[in-house]
Amino acid sequence: MKKIIIAIDGHSSTGKSTLAKQLAKALDYIYVDSGAMYRAVTLYALEQGFISDKKLDTDALISNIKNVNIEFKKQGNNPTVLFLNNKEVSSKIRGMEVSNLVSKVAALPEVRKCLVREQRRMGEQKGIVMDGRDIGTVVFPNAELKIFMTASAQTRTQRRYDELNAKDETVVFDEVYENITSRDYKDSTRADSPLTQAKDARVLDNTNLTQSQQYTIVMDWIKDLID
Ligand code: DC
Repeated sequence: MKKIIIAIDGHSSTGKSTLAKQLAKALDYIYVDSGAMYRAVTLYALEQGFISDKKLDTDALISNIKNVNIEFKKQGNNPTVLFLNNKEVSSKIRGMEVSNLVSKVAALPEVRKCLVREQRRMGEQKGIVMDGRDIGTVVFPNAELKIFMTASAQTRTQRRYDELNAKDETVVFDEVYENITSRDYKDSTRADSPLTQAKDARVLDNTNLTQSQQYTIVMDWIKDLID
């Protein structure tokens, strides 16, 4: 069976990583959450004091970017636990503090250049599912399967709100809505690698799809490509 690259892009909270993990498991592929890498750099900037009063000291971050080591390691049943400079940060990077600042960090060309280089290295052997915003357009423009995921902002807010609530984080629905819509705007309008649908991407609007319906649709696409 042929090994391929599966690039999943789309708006925030469309369930990209849920789908990507399911596909990686079924196909025995590597899964890479590229958004987690941008979040890890943001957490690094916060921890180093490069962000205060929501202002990012871009020069300080850029000159220290070589000191940021991001690794996905297997831990128990979870093959993709994120480590930032050898410290496990998987849940820390999902909090509102990082979520509210990550678009600023992700807009920096120097940060993108570094992470894209790393992402391409991870895909050299194919057999990879990577999700993000620029995977089908910039990281792997020759990916055999490109999926562009979307859903209504209301549906996406509800999903992220439920996810944060389950972790006991005190959140307000309107705040989550604001975060999601403003990230859509920033991700889609930034100068470097904005979120756009690749010309050859297949659109998956899951506003009214269950996870299992969505999975069946995508597995049918994949079967045609790997047989
Ligand atoms: O997928 P996510 O919400 O965890 O991504 C966090 C942020 O990182 C999001 O606001 C957009 C940015 N991002 C990006 O610019 N490029 C990627 N390939 C992945 C994420």
